Amino acid sequence: MKRSSLQVIAIAVLAILFSSCGKKNNAAAPKYIIGFSQCNSAEPWREAMNKQIESEAAKHPEIKLLVSDAQQSNARQVSDVENFIVRGVNLLMISPNEAKPLTGVVEKAYDAGIPVIVIDRKILSDKYTCFIGANNELIGKEAGEYAAKLLHGKGRVVEIWGLKGSTPAIERHDGFMEGIKNYPGIKIIYSQDGAWLREKGRSIMENALQRFDKIDLVFGQNDPMAIGAYLAAKDVGRAKDMYFIGIDGLPGPGGGIQAVIDGKLNATFIYPTGGKIAVQTALKILKGEKVPKDITLSSVSINPQDAKEYLSGEK
Ligand code: FRU
Repeated sequence: MKRSSLQVIAIAVLAILFSSCGKKNNAAAPKYIIGFSQCNSAEPWREAMNKQIESEAAKHPEIKLLVSDAQQSNARQVSDVENFIVRGVNLLMISPNEAKPLTGVVEKAYDAGIPVIVIDRKILSDKYTCFIGANNELIGKEAGEYAAKLLHGKGRVVEIWGLKGSTPAIERHDGFMEGIKNYPGIKIIYSQDGAWLREKGRSIMENALQRFDKIDLVFGQNDPMAIGAYLAAKDVGRAKDMYFIGIDGLPGPGGGIQAVIDGKLNATFIYPTGGKIAVQTALKILKGEKVPKDITLSSVSINPQDAKEYLSGEK
C-alpha cells in the first residue's frame, strides 16, 4: 500500500516534469525570423526605437530578431535588405534612411512574398504591408502654430531640416509652412539640411548667426538639431534672443523633454518610435491576422508648463 502510493507520486512528478520540459522546448524554438533594417542606430531616438523593438521581441520566444544598422548609408541599407531577402526572413521591418533609394529593394522583398512593416519614414510605393508612424505633417503644423504664437505673428525664422530625402523632413516642413501661412510677418530667412544630426544643426546655426544679426526663432526638425542650434547661439551669447523648437521629446537625461525643462528648447513634440507596436503588429501578420495598412501614432506637444509633469509621469 505504502509502496504503491509512493510509486503514484513518483509517476505524477515525472509526468509533470516531462510535460513542462516539453512545453518549454516548444516555446523556446523560434518559429519566425524577423529582419529589422535600421537606417542609423547612432541617434538617440533610434537607440530608443531599437531598445523597444528588442525588449518587445524578447517577450516572444517564437521570434528570432535580426537587426542591421545602415549607418545613414542608403547603399548599405539596400544591401542589408538584400541580405534579409537571401536569408529568407519571414518578415521585414524597415525604417528607411531616404525614401527613393530604398523603394526598389522594399518592393523586391514585398514581391518576393515577404510581409513588410515600414516604420517612421516612408517609401515611395504602396508595396508594403503596414506603415507605422506619427503624422509628421500635423506635428509640423502644430510646431508652426506654436512658433506663430511665440512670435506674435512676426519674426525671422531659421529652419534646420532633417535629411531632405526622408519623408518626415518634407512633411514636417510642409506642415510648418501650413502652420504659419496666415502670418505673412513670419519669414524663413535661412533653411539648410542638417541630416537629423546635432553637430550639423550646430554648424548650420553657426553660419546663420554669422549671416543674420536678428534671428527670432529656430525650428529644428528634430531635438538634436534644435539643441545643436541652441548651443551655437549660446556660445556667442545670443541664445536668449530667440526661441528654439524641436521634435522627438525623448524622456531621460539628454532628451528633448529635459531640454525644455532646462530652458534650451521652448517646445518639443513627442514623436513615438513605434518600436513596440511594430513587433506586436509583426506577430499578428505572421499569425495570419489582418492588420491596417496604416497605423498612425499620436503625438503630444511639450512646453515648459507641462514638461516636468510629463517626465514625472503625471501627464
Ligand atoms: C532619428 C530621427 C529622429 C526623427 C526621425 C525622423 O533618426 O532623425 O530624430 O524624429 O528620425 O525620421
